[in-house]
Amino acid sequence: MAHEYDVVIIGGGTGGYVAAIRASQLGLKTAIVEKEALGGTCLHKGCIPSKALLWSAQVFSTVKQSEDFGVETENAILNFKKVQQRKTGIVDRLYKGVQHLMKKGKIDVYDGFGRILGPSIFSPLPGTVSVEMTDGSENEMLVPKNVIIATGSRTKSLPGLDIDGTYIITSDEALEMEQLPRSMIIIGGGVIGIEWASMLADFGVEVAILEYAEQLLPSEDQEVSKELERLFKKKKINVVTRAKVQPDTFMKDGGFAKISAEVDGRLKEFTGEKILVAVGRNPNSDNLGLQNTDIELDNGFIKVNEYYQTKESHIYAIGDVIGGLQLAHAASHEGIKAAEHIAGEDPSPIIYDHVPRCIYSTPEIAGVGLTEDEAKEKGFKVKTGKFSFQAIGKALIFGETDGFVKIVSDEDTNDILGVHMIGPNVTDLISEAGLARVLDATAWEISQTIHPHPSLGEVMGEAALAVDGRAIHI
Ligand code: NAI
Repeated sequence: MAHEYDVVIIGGGTGGYVAAIRASQLGLKTAIVEKEALGGTCLHKGCIPSKALLWSAQVFSTVKQSEDFGVETENAILNFKKVQQRKTGIVDRLYKGVQHLMKKGKIDVYDGFGRILGPSIFSPLPGTVSVEMTDGSENEMLVPKNVIIATGSRTKSLPGLDIDGTYIITSDEALEMEQLPRSMIIIGGGVIGIEWASMLADFGVEVAILEYAEQLLPSEDQEVSKELERLFKKKKINVVTRAKVQPDTFMKDGGFAKISAEVDGRLKEFTGEKILVAVGRNPNSDNLGLQNTDIELDNGFIKVNEYYQTKESHIYAIGDVIGGLQLAHAASHEGIKAAEHIAGEDPSPIIYDHVPRCIYSTPEIAGVGLTEDEAKEKGFKVKTGKFSFQAIGKALIFGETDGFVKIVSDEDTNDILGVHMIGPNVTDLISEAGLARVLDATAWEISQTIHPHPSLGEVMGEAALAVDGRAIHI
């Protein structure tokens, strides 16, 4: 039987379900097709479960240092089973919340795999969605005026290094580990690699991280990456940059995995109980029926315009499947913009330089806008202000004085071009920098904002003053 809709969204992750809610708020008859579980990667295999584990790791690490705070504890013992149960409890609770939101928005949810058909008896345009139902019942046929593809991305490996789930894993398998390994080799020093290295080290696992580029987090500000490397070494993480991993050297040896990497012309062998591969994610654009449309791909990513329309103007795509910043908060905002455009509103396009990037390791890392190098490459005359957490009273109280905030400003206009942070709670502090970017604020304006004392936020005020050499507590 065919069901008619204003919008059908394929994929119920953070991008898809937020787009569905916005579409329904705008009075559009909306359906969502999801092959696994509403909430998608972020809720079930990404942001939420990984941050729950990271928090347990940080608590464990803090408890081990509790004497520094005058709190004496008997031996801290890690119960990893409970850590996992807590993680699952948080995911379940949020999952129920998303299901409730779909009901509240009167959004029809189809549990199954959606494929786009070409012109058919249902419509002269491509875009009818055939749903192969998860429960094996007969395919449902959805006939929408518009489609939003929000199918996300999946883990990938290196050519020649097959994920076997035991010795070689991705973040998907790592999240489900029933017990911690004694040692882990992480391939890739990007966002996933950094978060897992931090978490595992805090849990007491021996970690080596092999990164191909010159620095960890190659797209973040150089000074932030250097500080991260220093702090990771302090945590006893073996950080190896410029590492060309050789997949054909992988072997299993007495319950351990061995793999070699060429580092500065020399072959080095690494041994660990498991290898975690974190070298990026592939878009889920295959098997969707895109060959029945004029939709164009770039390396598997769906090409869209600033309103997220594909070459078929009534078919939109948002989130990881279009590439760019593969971040949940970027996807949800893209979903809102797409829904508003479909409803005939005139949404202002997202400025990607305004999207904050956050990494939930210890120390946390966050950034928005251009790095110092990027700003210089773009021809800006740059001035910077930097302020360390060492001189921030609240950081001292927390016992977390490592790290800093760095503001990159345009010397000609005084506009802030980028803000880069490493240290305690910076994934929260970055929102002030994001607002500053949206309001086109100058460092002077931030310095005029009164930050309460004592608070970690004072670091922003001081870094802003530092841009013009006026920081107080240095
Ligand atoms: P990524 O692109 O952030 O990092 C991959 C890293 O692997 C890069 O540093 C790259 O230079 C390195 N690499 C590539 N090939 C290599 C090789 N052969 N040997 C050694 N290193 C190699 O990708 P990642 O970490 O897998 O994350 C995937 C996506 O998920 C990212 O776009 C990320 O933004 C998103 N994500 C976001 C999170 C957050 O916002 N906190 C958390 C987790 C993931």
